[in-house]
Amino acid sequence: MQNSYTRPALSADRYTITAALPYTNGPVHIGHLAGVYIPADIYARFQRIQGKDVAFVCGSDEHGVPITIKAKKEGITPQQVVDKYHAIIKKSFQDFGISFDNYSRTSAKIHHDTASEFFKKLYEDGKFIEQTTEQFYDKDANQFLADRFIVGTCPKCGFEESYGDQCESCGTSHNATDLINPKSSITGNTPSLKETKHWFLPLDQYEPWLKEWIIDGHKKDWKVNVYGQCKSWIDDGLRPRAVTRDLDWGIPVPVEGADGKVLYVWFDAPIGYISATKEWAEKEGKDWEPYWKDKDTKLLHFIGKDNIVFHCIIFPSMLKAEGSYILPNNVPANEFLNLEGNKISTSKNWAVWLHEYLEDFPNQQDVLRYVLTANAPETKDNDFTWADFQARNNNELVAVFGNFINRVVVLTNKYYEGIVPTPSDFSEIDLETLKELQASPSLIEESIERYRFREAQARLMNVARLGNKYLADEEPWKTIKTDEERTKTVLFVSLQIAAALAVLCEPFLPFTSDKLKGILCHSELDSESNWNDILTKQTLLPSAHQIGKAELLFSKIEDEQVQKQLDKLAATKKANEVMNATPEPQKDTIQFDDFTKLDMRVGTILEAEKMPKTKKLLVLKVDTGIDVRTIVSGIAESFTPEEVIGKKVTVLVNLAPRALRGVESQGMILMTENAEGKLVFLNADEDDVSNGMTIN
Ligand code: 2FM
Ligand code: ZN
Repeated sequence: MQNSYTRPALSADRYTITAALPYTNGPVHIGHLAGVYIPADIYARFQRIQGKDVAFVCGSDEHGVPITIKAKKEGITPQQVVDKYHAIIKKSFQDFGISFDNYSRTSAKIHHDTASEFFKKLYEDGKFIEQTTEQFYDKDANQFLADRFIVGTCPKCGFEESYGDQCESCGTSHNATDLINPKSSITGNTPSLKETKHWFLPLDQYEPWLKEWIIDGHKKDWKVNVYGQCKSWIDDGLRPRAVTRDLDWGIPVPVEGADGKVLYVWFDAPIGYISATKEWAEKEGKDWEPYWKDKDTKLLHFIGKDNIVFHCIIFPSMLKAEGSYILPNNVPANEFLNLEGNKISTSKNWAVWLHEYLEDFPNQQDVLRYVLTANAPETKDNDFTWADFQARNNNELVAVFGNFINRVVVLTNKYYEGIVPTPSDFSEIDLETLKELQASPSLIEESIERYRFREAQARLMNVARLGNKYLADEEPWKTIKTDEERTKTVLFVSLQIAAALAVLCEPFLPFTSDKLKGILCHSELDSESNWNDILTKQTLLPSAHQIGKAELLFSKIEDEQVQKQLDKLAATKKANEVMNATPEPQKDTIQFDDFTKLDMRVGTILEAEKMPKTKKLLVLKVDTGIDVRTIVSGIAESFTPEEVIGKKVTVLVNLAPRALRGVESQGMILMTENAEGKLVFLNADEDDVSNGMTIN
């Protein structure tokens, strides 16, 4: 058949595909999946289906200051931090079907050895500048302040909380001493300067080569956002960058006179891609070198936009300096995903954590994969909302994809006991439908090769739409009464579409693909070389083949499930507000005599009932130790009467009585309000009551 799409010139037989090594100081969330791991996985799965030799590698980034900070906060060692999160992250990736050939970690011996050798080679070849300079030092903490240990105003954009090595607001990478108004993030002190020796990679020397390689060489094939950032850095002029640090967590600098110094995390982390490949090759009995040194290998780095400078400027300069490595062909970086209108934040717990998602939506990995791809921040930041998640599942996966498959499988079982019927002559519409089906793989391929995964997935869904339209137009449920032969042909064509979908959806929806292949009972569909068969064959499911029974591929997501997620986020928002809230200012000073006028007693609530026709009021009988009295309290929205009976409370007993709804209240129960806006008694758990809360 005719195929108008020509494969890109760079199409190779061997692919080394890397996905950014996540920092191991917390679990992974939807932003990670959408920005890096799903696109990388779609690409890797796609190339494997094409029969390409793929090494898809990743691992935990276990060095660097964020890990030390987390360890300090939790009172544990950095090793304990990385052990905990490495296991959680690795499991999340497995659970979501991210098909790494190897998921390694930078604390592994093979990585320490590889990174040390890399550094030594550059050192011995005279590629570094050794320089003693003044660096920020915190006298109280008794340490140098590298990277995230220092915060200050970004000299480029004015963001007041820029880190020492990179500004998270504008993405600029700088030296710590460039910061305006620097502060130690350990003690809050203004740091002093102290001399220390470090090794620098003279990026300025690589500038002419970077100009030629990126600005002239990749203008057309790199994404606009990636190319634009690189160009702006190169145009601004590059300066030498220190690749060592005065820290006690990391890979020791492997040369004389470097005691107490480690490799900068951004020097060792990208080398992690190489060590992960080596570790994998060792396990598989392969040679790792062609994956990194054969110029015909296509090297691709999937990353988020904050990592562009490291993957396009610094790591390639390191590879170039070493001399024997290939350079990335492309660095398809994505922008960021927001959540319900706000920036995803690990520290503010503003995220959908992958392990938590699976607790609430078990076995629904593909739904999240689908929605995150449909909304991927490919060209600009995008927003994830639970309403969109529900709509895409219910209106697209359930109503389009699932519905088509279900109708075909149910009808084939109903009319032909699950046996693929033999078609008669194809009508014009059958031939057109089959032609469109056969054109779909190359359309999807074209989008994937251009790193347009949203478009690729939309083109996949068009295949399911094609099937639905064909069924709706040809109405086999009607022709079965009048034209048996026509019904057979229509179901035969529909089954070919279903089989094509099973193969084509594999890179995007791997769990669904497996399930659908199982329903269609077609072991040949499992082989990894079928993609091109769809281009050439009309018959993927031959006549007389027996398929299985219908099973739902997707199920509807109900309003209550979405509401539960929104409630969770609302509670997080409230908790953050409370945590950041400034307590109400102190009231006017009173004299001791004024205070002694207040008579507060411990009491026990003996009885409680709702005040009729009110929402807020409970009528309580309280034993104050002096007497048993009636107190009307506005706590009914926070407690049921049953919950408060027997509670010990603090009572202001000499407040002048007043009538509320005709009942005289003889005192006041002292309360405060917790993070969720619920009233709490003053002698409640200390978790609920924190400093500065107003008693009322
Ligand atoms: O931004 C991050 O999460 C880094 N840990 C990414 C490292 S990518 C690579 F170079 F290893
Ligand atoms: Zn900035």
